[in-house]
Amino acid sequence: MKVTVVGAGNVGATCADVIARKEFVHEVVLLDIKEGVSEGKSLDIWQTAPINLFDTRMIGSTNDYSRTANSDVVVITSGLPRKPGMSRDDLIATNAGIVRSVTENIIKHSPNTIIIVVSNPLDVMTYCAYLTAQIDPSRVFGMAGILDTARYRAFLAEALNVSPKDIQAVLMGGHGDTMVPLPRYTTVAGIPVTELISPEKLDAIVERTKKGGGELVNLMGTSAWYAPGAAAAQMVEAVIKDQKRIFPCCAWLNGEYGLKDIYLGVPVKLGRKGIEQIIELQLNAEEKKLLTDSAKAVKEVMGVLDNMSQAASK
Ligand code: NAI
Ligand code: 2OP
Repeated sequence: MKVTVVGAGNVGATCADVIARKEFVHEVVLLDIKEGVSEGKSLDIWQTAPINLFDTRMIGSTNDYSRTANSDVVVITSGLPRKPGMSRDDLIATNAGIVRSVTENIIKHSPNTIIIVVSNPLDVMTYCAYLTAQIDPSRVFGMAGILDTARYRAFLAEALNVSPKDIQAVLMGGHGDTMVPLPRYTTVAGIPVTELISPEKLDAIVERTKKGGGELVNLMGTSAWYAPGAAAAQMVEAVIKDQKRIFPCCAWLNGEYGLKDIYLGVPVKLGRKGIEQIIELQLNAEEKKLLTDSAKAVKEVMGVLDNMSQAASK
């Protein structure tokens, strides 16, 4: 089994490192456009093998896609984080150009691969990869929900002074301020979280989760990478090992939740075929409204990409 991670920056290198340590593939290719960076990081990760005790082979490549040929899964992390003075549209244009060219190259060398997108703005970059790859949407999906849910679970574990292992949760919607955490579906070792925490404290945790990415940008001056890298690696593992795990992922909706032609975070079953099932929860009226509002926000950004593509083709 072979996995390629495109983008050897903070998130990509962390993702490659986690995959290598877990030994569920034979080979990890790390590819970046910057000369030498992916070769250097691959070599560095390989030199942890005798310490961390793994034998996954690491291959670095400066933009040579022939090295990625026949990958079973490709993770796309290439792209800029938003910089001061950069509008959201500027970011979309820049990252869409990157994601488009990366996806074209990937599909050329690995036509049967599964693509997991991480680049931001996540929902619309996943849409961009899907439009470019022209493969079934069950094979093109995005990472955000596992990260957002992990933040929510970590905050709850801290507030309740319990192990994060015991907290199960699901979160839906776009990757941004409109994300929809679902306290009604949050349990601590099977106990509804609402029995263990006050509504005020829970609301505060939900709000902190929605701004979880921004909190880290404010602390570090750039966006997070340990949890994003580990979250993407967890999705790769579920696919490679055909685990049939249920995760919130950014998936193409075709009528589910009353939504169509949109990439949005929903609970899915992940296995060797990619997204093998979209799980439809019985949302109440309030939850439905939050999800619809989030879908509206994502559709707007998808519209920006569509308009850019139409303008470019005129
Ligand atoms: P980074 O700047 O550390 O790394 C990005 C890498 O992409 C750089 O090494 C750059 O050389 C490379 N790159 C740029 N153009 C390329 C191309 N055409 N081909 C190959 N490589 C190319 O950024 P970081 O922190 O790793 O973040 C990467 C992306 O992931 C950003 O868009 C960020 O906003 C997003 N992100 C998404 C998250 C999510 O939950 N979906 C969480 C965290 C980050
Ligand atoms: C995050 O949530 C910025 O998407 C990035 O950390």
